[in-house]
Amino acid sequence: MTITIFPVTQNFAAEIGDVDLSKPIADDDFAAIKQAFWKYAVLVFPGQDLTPEQHLAFSEKFGPVENERTLDPKATPTRYSGAFADISNLDAQGKIWGETSRQRMYKAGNKLWHTDSSFKFRPSLCSLLYSRTIAPIGGHTQFADQRAAYDALSDDLKKKLHGMVAEHWIVHSRMRNGFTEFNEDEKRRLPAVPQVLVRTIPENGRKSLYVASHAGRVFGMPDEEGRALIDSMIAHVTQPQFIHTHRWRPNELIMWDNRCTMHRGTDYDDLRWVRDMQRVTISDVANSCEQEGVAIAA
Ligand code: OGA
Ligand code: MN
Repeated sequence: MTITIFPVTQNFAAEIGDVDLSKPIADDDFAAIKQAFWKYAVLVFPGQDLTPEQHLAFSEKFGPVENERTLDPKATPTRYSGAFADISNLDAQGKIWGETSRQRMYKAGNKLWHTDSSFKFRPSLCSLLYSRTIAPIGGHTQFADQRAAYDALSDDLKKKLHGMVAEHWIVHSRMRNGFTEFNEDEKRRLPAVPQVLVRTIPENGRKSLYVASHAGRVFGMPDEEGRALIDSMIAHVTQPQFIHTHRWRPNELIMWDNRCTMHRGTDYDDLRWVRDMQRVTISDVANSCEQEGVAIAA
Protein backbone atom coordinates (compact mmCIF):
# COMPACT_ATOMS: atom_id res chain seq x y z
CA MET A 1 0.00 0.00 0.00
CA THR A 2 1.33 3.41 -0.91
CA ILE A 3 -1.47 5.82 -0.02
CA THR A 4 -1.35 7.99 3.09
CA ILE A 5 -4.36 8.70 5.30
CA PHE A 6 -4.19 11.94 7.22
CA PRO A 7 -7.09 12.51 9.64
CA VAL A 8 -8.50 16.03 9.47
CA THR A 9 -10.81 15.30 12.39
CA GLN A 10 -10.55 12.30 14.66
CA ASN A 11 -13.36 10.22 13.16
CA PHE A 12 -15.09 12.13 10.39
CA ALA A 13 -12.86 13.60 7.68
CA ALA A 14 -9.50 12.50 6.31
CA GLU A 15 -7.17 13.58 3.53
CA ILE A 16 -5.83 10.90 1.23
CA GLY A 17 -2.41 11.47 -0.26
CA ASP A 18 0.07 9.63 -2.47
CA VAL A 19 -2.51 8.48 -4.95
CA ASP A 20 -3.16 9.66 -8.50
CA LEU A 21 -6.85 9.26 -9.29
CA SER A 22 -6.30 9.89 -13.00
CA LYS A 23 -4.61 6.47 -13.23
CA PRO A 24 -5.84 2.95 -12.50
CA ILE A 25 -5.55 2.30 -8.78
CA ALA A 26 -3.86 -0.78 -7.36
CA ASP A 27 -6.26 -3.16 -5.61
CA ASP A 28 -4.67 -2.80 -2.19
CA ASP A 29 -4.75 0.99 -2.46
CA PHE A 30 -8.40 0.90 -3.41
CA ALA A 31 -9.15 -1.43 -0.51
CA ALA A 32 -7.40 1.03 1.83
CA ILE A 33 -9.43 3.94 0.41
CA LYS A 34 -12.65 2.01 1.03
CA GLN A 35 -11.61 1.16 4.59
CA ALA A 36 -10.86 4.82 5.25
CA PHE A 37 -14.18 5.79 3.71
CA TRP A 38 -16.18 3.54 6.04
CA LYS A 39 -14.27 4.90 9.01
CA TYR A 40 -14.38 8.62 8.20
CA ALA A 41 -17.33 9.13 5.79
CA VAL A 42 -15.70 12.23 4.23
CA LEU A 43 -12.50 11.82 2.20
CA VAL A 44 -10.55 14.67 0.61
CA PHE A 45 -8.16 13.99 -2.29
CA PRO A 46 -6.13 17.17 -2.82
CA GLY A 47 -4.09 18.00 -5.89
CA GLN A 48 -5.88 15.79 -8.43
CA ASP A 49 -5.78 16.76 -12.09
CA LEU A 50 -8.82 14.99 -13.52
CA THR A 51 -10.67 15.03 -16.81
CA PRO A 52 -14.43 14.40 -16.50
CA GLU A 53 -13.79 10.86 -17.82
CA GLN A 54 -11.21 10.19 -15.09
CA HIS A 55 -13.51 11.63 -12.42
CA LEU A 56 -16.24 9.29 -13.67
CA ALA A 57 -13.93 6.27 -13.92
CA PHE A 58 -12.86 6.59 -10.26
CA SER A 59 -16.46 7.20 -9.12
CA GLU A 60 -17.80 4.13 -10.94
CA LYS A 61 -15.64 1.92 -8.76
CA PHE A 62 -18.08 2.56 -5.87
CA GLY A 63 -21.27 1.46 -7.63
CA PRO A 64 -23.82 2.41 -10.28
CA VAL A 65 -23.77 6.06 -11.35
CA GLU A 66 -26.99 8.10 -11.17
CA ASN A 67 -27.65 9.18 -14.73
CA GLU A 68 -30.83 11.19 -14.45
CA ARG A 69 -30.65 14.82 -13.36
CA THR A 70 -33.36 16.24 -11.14
CA LEU A 71 -34.31 19.22 -13.29
CA ASP A 72 -35.76 18.78 -16.75
CA PRO A 73 -32.83 19.62 -19.08
CA LYS A 74 -35.24 21.20 -21.55
CA ALA A 75 -36.52 23.70 -18.96
CA THR A 76 -33.04 24.23 -17.46
CA PRO A 77 -30.17 23.55 -19.86
CA THR A 78 -26.77 23.11 -18.20
CA ARG A 79 -23.23 22.48 -19.48
CA TYR A 80 -23.24 18.93 -18.14
CA SER A 81 -25.92 16.27 -18.17
CA GLY A 82 -26.17 12.54 -17.65
CA ALA A 83 -23.63 11.35 -15.11
CA PHE A 84 -22.50 14.84 -14.04
CA ALA A 85 -24.37 17.32 -11.87
CA ASP A 86 -23.04 20.78 -12.62
CA ILE A 87 -22.39 22.29 -9.19
CA SER A 88 -21.24 25.61 -10.60
CA ASN A 89 -22.75 29.05 -11.00
CA LEU A 90 -22.36 28.92 -14.78
CA ASP A 91 -25.10 28.68 -17.37
CA ALA A 92 -25.17 26.37 -20.41
CA GLN A 93 -22.90 28.80 -22.28
CA GLY A 94 -20.35 28.89 -19.46
CA LYS A 95 -21.22 32.41 -18.30
CA ILE A 96 -22.10 33.35 -14.72
CA TRP A 97 -25.80 32.66 -14.29
CA GLY A 98 -28.44 35.35 -14.20
CA GLU A 99 -29.76 36.61 -10.91
CA THR A 100 -33.26 35.21 -11.50
CA SER A 101 -32.26 32.11 -13.50
CA ARG A 102 -34.11 28.86 -12.77
CA GLN A 103 -30.81 27.10 -12.16
CA ARG A 104 -29.82 29.65 -9.50
CA MET A 105 -33.19 29.48 -7.73
CA TYR A 106 -33.11 25.69 -7.67
CA LYS A 107 -29.46 25.35 -6.61
CA ALA A 108 -30.02 27.71 -3.68
CA GLY A 109 -31.45 24.55 -2.06
CA ASN A 110 -27.87 23.23 -1.75
CA LYS A 111 -27.38 25.77 1.03
CA LEU A 112 -29.85 23.85 3.21
CA TRP A 113 -28.57 20.85 5.17
CA HIS A 114 -29.27 17.79 3.03
CA THR A 115 -28.02 14.46 1.83
CA ASP A 116 -27.98 13.85 -1.92
CA SER A 117 -30.86 11.94 -3.51
CA SER A 118 -32.66 10.85 -0.33
CA PHE A 119 -35.72 12.00 -2.31
CA LYS A 120 -35.18 9.11 -4.71
CA PHE A 121 -36.72 5.74 -3.80
CA ARG A 122 -33.31 4.17 -4.26
CA PRO A 123 -31.20 6.89 -2.65
CA SER A 124 -27.50 7.61 -3.01
CA LEU A 125 -24.58 5.77 -1.46
CA CYS A 126 -22.03 8.52 -1.99
CA SER A 127 -21.18 11.62 -4.00
CA LEU A 128 -17.85 12.65 -5.50
CA LEU A 129 -17.47 16.40 -6.05
CA TYR A 130 -14.52 17.79 -7.99
CA SER A 131 -13.41 21.44 -7.92
CA ARG A 132 -12.00 23.20 -10.97
CA THR A 133 -12.33 26.84 -9.97
CA ILE A 134 -13.12 28.04 -6.46
CA ALA A 135 -14.50 31.32 -5.14
CA PRO A 136 -11.81 33.48 -3.48
CA ILE A 137 -14.13 34.21 -0.55
CA GLY A 138 -16.77 31.84 0.86
CA GLY A 139 -18.21 28.87 -1.02
CA HIS A 140 -17.06 26.35 1.59
CA THR A 141 -18.85 23.05 2.05
CA GLN A 142 -19.92 21.89 5.49
CA PHE A 143 -20.45 18.27 6.49
CA ALA A 144 -22.36 16.89 9.49
CA ASP A 145 -21.75 13.43 10.96
CA GLN A 146 -25.14 11.72 11.43
CA ARG A 147 -23.49 8.67 13.05
CA ALA A 148 -21.92 10.70 15.87
CA ALA A 149 -25.21 12.59 16.20
CA TYR A 150 -27.07 9.29 16.58
CA ASP A 151 -24.58 8.04 19.18
CA ALA A 152 -25.19 11.19 21.24
CA LEU A 153 -28.98 10.66 21.49
CA SER A 154 -30.56 9.44 24.72
CA ASP A 155 -31.49 5.75 24.84
CA ASP A 156 -35.18 6.70 25.00
CA LEU A 157 -34.98 8.78 21.86
CA LYS A 158 -33.00 6.08 20.03
CA LYS A 159 -35.75 3.61 20.90
CA LYS A 160 -38.48 5.98 19.76
CA LEU A 161 -36.84 6.70 16.40
CA HIS A 162 -36.09 3.09 15.45
CA GLY A 163 -38.45 1.87 12.74
CA MET A 164 -39.84 5.36 12.04
CA VAL A 165 -40.21 6.31 8.39
CA ALA A 166 -40.09 9.83 6.95
CA GLU A 167 -41.35 11.10 3.63
CA HIS A 168 -38.57 12.62 1.49
CA TRP A 169 -39.57 14.79 -1.43
CA ILE A 170 -37.56 17.32 -3.42
CA VAL A 171 -40.57 19.61 -3.20
CA HIS A 172 -40.25 19.69 0.63
CA SER A 173 -36.69 21.05 0.56
CA ARG A 174 -37.28 23.45 -2.33
CA MET A 175 -40.42 24.80 -0.62
CA ARG A 176 -38.30 25.60 2.44
CA ASN A 177 -36.40 27.90 0.09
CA GLY A 178 -39.23 29.35 -1.98
CA PHE A 179 -38.63 27.34 -5.21
CA THR A 180 -41.97 25.90 -6.27
CA GLU A 181 -41.80 25.93 -10.08
CA PHE A 182 -41.42 22.21 -10.78
CA ASN A 183 -42.95 21.37 -14.14
CA GLU A 184 -45.17 18.36 -14.89
CA ASP A 185 -42.27 16.22 -16.12
CA GLU A 186 -40.26 16.88 -12.95
CA LYS A 187 -43.25 16.23 -10.66
CA ARG A 188 -43.95 12.94 -12.40
CA ARG A 189 -40.32 11.79 -12.14
CA LEU A 190 -39.90 12.87 -8.51
CA PRO A 191 -42.70 11.50 -6.30
CA ALA A 192 -42.34 11.53 -2.51
CA VAL A 193 -40.53 8.44 -1.16
CA PRO A 194 -40.14 6.71 2.21
CA GLN A 195 -36.82 6.52 4.07
CA VAL A 196 -36.11 5.31 7.61
CA LEU A 197 -35.02 7.86 10.25
CA VAL A 198 -32.34 5.55 11.64
CA ARG A 199 -30.23 3.26 9.48
CA THR A 200 -27.32 0.92 9.85
CA ILE A 201 -24.15 1.25 7.78
CA PRO A 202 -23.50 -2.36 6.71
CA GLU A 203 -19.71 -2.01 6.32
CA ASN A 204 -19.11 -1.13 9.97
CA GLY A 205 -22.39 -1.77 11.80
CA ARG A 206 -22.66 1.85 12.96
CA LYS A 207 -26.10 3.34 13.35
CA SER A 208 -26.86 6.71 11.83
CA LEU A 209 -29.64 9.24 11.74
CA TYR A 210 -30.92 9.76 8.18
CA VAL A 211 -32.54 13.17 8.08
CA ALA A 212 -32.31 15.97 5.54
CA SER A 213 -34.18 19.05 4.45
CA HIS A 214 -35.85 16.80 1.85
CA ALA A 215 -37.79 15.12 4.68
CA GLY A 216 -41.12 16.77 5.43
CA ARG A 217 -43.41 14.32 7.22
CA VAL A 218 -43.21 11.25 9.42
CA PHE A 219 -45.59 8.41 8.66
CA GLY A 220 -48.11 7.77 11.43
CA MET A 221 -47.72 11.26 12.93
CA PRO A 222 -49.72 14.44 12.39
CA ASP A 223 -47.94 16.61 9.79
CA GLU A 224 -46.83 19.35 12.21
CA GLU A 225 -45.57 16.90 14.79
CA GLY A 226 -43.56 14.97 12.18
CA ARG A 227 -42.12 18.12 10.70
CA ALA A 228 -41.17 19.35 14.19
CA LEU A 229 -39.42 16.03 14.90
CA ILE A 230 -37.48 16.21 11.62
CA ASP A 231 -36.50 19.83 12.25
CA SER A 232 -35.35 19.03 15.78
CA MET A 233 -33.23 16.12 14.47
CA ILE A 234 -31.66 18.35 11.79
CA ALA A 235 -30.90 20.92 14.51
CA HIS A 236 -29.36 18.16 16.63
CA VAL A 237 -27.18 16.76 13.82
CA THR A 238 -25.91 20.20 12.79
CA GLN A 239 -24.50 21.21 16.18
CA PRO A 240 -20.89 22.40 15.98
CA GLN A 241 -19.41 19.23 17.51
CA PHE A 242 -20.69 17.14 14.57
CA ILE A 243 -19.65 19.52 11.78
CA HIS A 244 -16.59 19.79 9.63
CA THR A 245 -16.19 22.81 7.35
CA HIS A 246 -14.12 22.28 4.23
CA ARG A 247 -12.35 25.19 2.58
CA TRP A 248 -11.81 24.18 -1.03
CA ARG A 249 -8.65 24.28 -3.08
CA PRO A 250 -8.81 23.94 -6.88
CA ASN A 251 -8.46 20.42 -8.34
CA GLU A 252 -9.66 18.65 -5.28
CA LEU A 253 -12.00 15.66 -5.14
CA ILE A 254 -14.17 15.11 -2.07
CA MET A 255 -16.29 12.05 -1.56
CA TRP A 256 -18.89 11.70 1.20
CA ASP A 257 -21.19 8.95 2.38
CA ASN A 258 -24.77 10.12 1.74
CA ARG A 259 -26.14 7.41 4.02
CA CYS A 260 -24.72 8.94 7.20
CA THR A 261 -23.75 12.56 6.54
CA MET A 262 -25.48 15.80 5.64
CA HIS A 263 -23.80 18.67 3.83
CA ARG A 264 -24.52 22.18 2.66
CA GLY A 265 -22.80 24.84 0.57
CA THR A 266 -22.04 28.18 2.21
CA ASP A 267 -22.63 31.56 0.62
CA TYR A 268 -20.31 33.32 -1.77
CA ASP A 269 -20.80 36.17 -4.20
CA ASP A 270 -22.12 33.96 -6.99
CA LEU A 271 -22.95 36.85 -9.32
CA ARG A 272 -19.30 37.96 -9.18
CA TRP A 273 -16.96 34.97 -8.78
CA VAL A 274 -16.86 31.74 -10.77
CA ARG A 275 -17.14 28.58 -8.68
CA ASP A 276 -16.88 25.56 -10.96
CA MET A 277 -17.44 22.03 -9.63
CA GLN A 278 -18.97 18.83 -10.92
CA ARG A 279 -20.47 15.96 -8.99
CA VAL A 280 -20.88 12.26 -9.75
CA THR A 281 -23.47 10.53 -7.57
CA ILE A 282 -23.44 6.79 -6.83
CA SER A 283 -26.66 4.88 -6.10
CA ASP A 284 -27.20 2.88 -2.93
CA VAL A 285 -28.10 -0.80 -3.19
CA ALA A 286 -31.80 -0.34 -2.23
CA ASN A 287 -34.32 1.90 -0.50
CA SER A 288 -33.34 2.46 3.16
CA CYS A 289 -36.60 0.85 4.45
CA GLU A 290 -35.79 -2.29 2.48
CA GLN A 291 -32.26 -2.31 3.86
CA GLU A 292 -33.55 -1.99 7.44
CA GLY A 293 -36.36 -4.52 6.98
CA VAL A 294 -38.94 -1.87 7.86
CA ALA A 295 -42.33 -2.12 6.14
CA ILE A 296 -42.71 0.61 3.55
CA ALA A 297 -45.36 3.09 4.65
CA ALA A 298 -48.24 3.56 2.21
C1 OGA B 1 -23.52 18.91 -3.83
C2 OGA B 1 -23.73 20.05 -2.90
C3 OGA B 1 -22.63 21.99 -1.93
C4 OGA B 1 -21.55 22.92 -2.36
O1 OGA B 1 -22.63 19.00 -4.67
O2 OGA B 1 -24.25 17.92 -3.71
O3 OGA B 1 -24.68 20.08 -2.18
O4 OGA B 1 -20.83 23.43 -1.49
N1 OGA B 1 -22.75 20.96 -2.89
O5 OGA B 1 -21.45 23.15 -3.58
MN1 MN C 1 -25.71 18.07 -2.23
